[in-house]
Amino acid sequence: MTANSAVAQAHPNIAFIKYWGNKDEILRLPENGSISMNLQALHTRTTATIDHDASADTLSINGEVQEGLALSRARQYLEKVREIYSISGKLRITSENNFPMAAGIASSASAFAALAAAVNALFELELNSDYLSALARLGSGSASRSVPPGYCEWFPGKTHADSYARSIADSDHWQLWDCVAVVAKEEKKIGSTQGHKLASTSPLQDARLKNADERLSICREAIFKKDFEQLAAVIELDSDMMHAVMMTSRPPIMYWQGASVSIMHEIRRLRSRGIEAAYTLDAGPNVHIISTPDAIRKIEDHFRGFNGISSLITSPVGDGARLISVN
Ligand code: PMV
Repeated sequence: MTANSAVAQAHPNIAFIKYWGNKDEILRLPENGSISMNLQALHTRTTATIDHDASADTLSINGEVQEGLALSRARQYLEKVREIYSISGKLRITSENNFPMAAGIASSASAFAALAAAVNALFELELNSDYLSALARLGSGSASRSVPPGYCEWFPGKTHADSYARSIADSDHWQLWDCVAVVAKEEKKIGSTQGHKLASTSPLQDARLKNADERLSICREAIFKKDFEQLAAVIELDSDMMHAVMMTSRPPIMYWQGASVSIMHEIRRLRSRGIEAAYTLDAGPNVHIISTPDAIRKIEDHFRGFNGISSLITSPVGDGARLISVN
């Protein structure tokens, strides 16, 4: 008997070495490799049901029926998947995040990783972890890294099948934490799909890409050796380089706000006093404070109530995507 409905769950991830710019926009083949850690405390849980009577796919997020951009993105994704994997049937997708959307933490990675895992089960595609990661990548590049567990590296590849992420270390190898400093006011921002297209208009993008492999190997080695100083230096450099590209693209994108910059200065000040803290920022003003089990409580205490921070969301490194049930 074939399945009618599947439920899957995945966590978002925070990139240590960033992905910014595509070689192929449709397949989301990235210009450079990237490394991230999954965030255990945050998740998206998605149910995908085949709807035989429907003429189009439908989507609801946190109980709200979607109509705008989110729906068209999900539909475009499913069209691409049906074509590549030669499957048919419209889907009813219901998705729940356990973190506030308004906090500005990108949910596309966990959303597409969970949806890919549900689709894999529903249509009995029997994809292994590499191919499942590639399937998730079609929806959002960073979703490829939310499929395997722990610390993951996404290898850029040249085709759909060979552009996927693999785990390079398990969560229990090194228990790092991410404390997200949610910066109060978020201005209208350019989403990452749009941002990737602008990357090549920055005169700094070539320089960023030229040394990306070197930063990847420094980051990989820092994770293997559990060397926080080495990790801190390379992730801050990589985040700053990506934001330099964003700020110098045409049109320019300035994701940082005043509070983002104050928090970055404060993190460096704390590190100079021996507290293990390092910053990295994605396509938004929130500052992700990467830290160790020894330092995480001190960091939370220090930044609670800090000027410009509206809330702190804390998570240890986490698991990959998993299937919960099939009916
Ligand atoms: O997966 P996307 O298209 O949302 O792009 C993610 C881009 C960054 O978050 C800024 C960097 C990254 O590697 O996650």
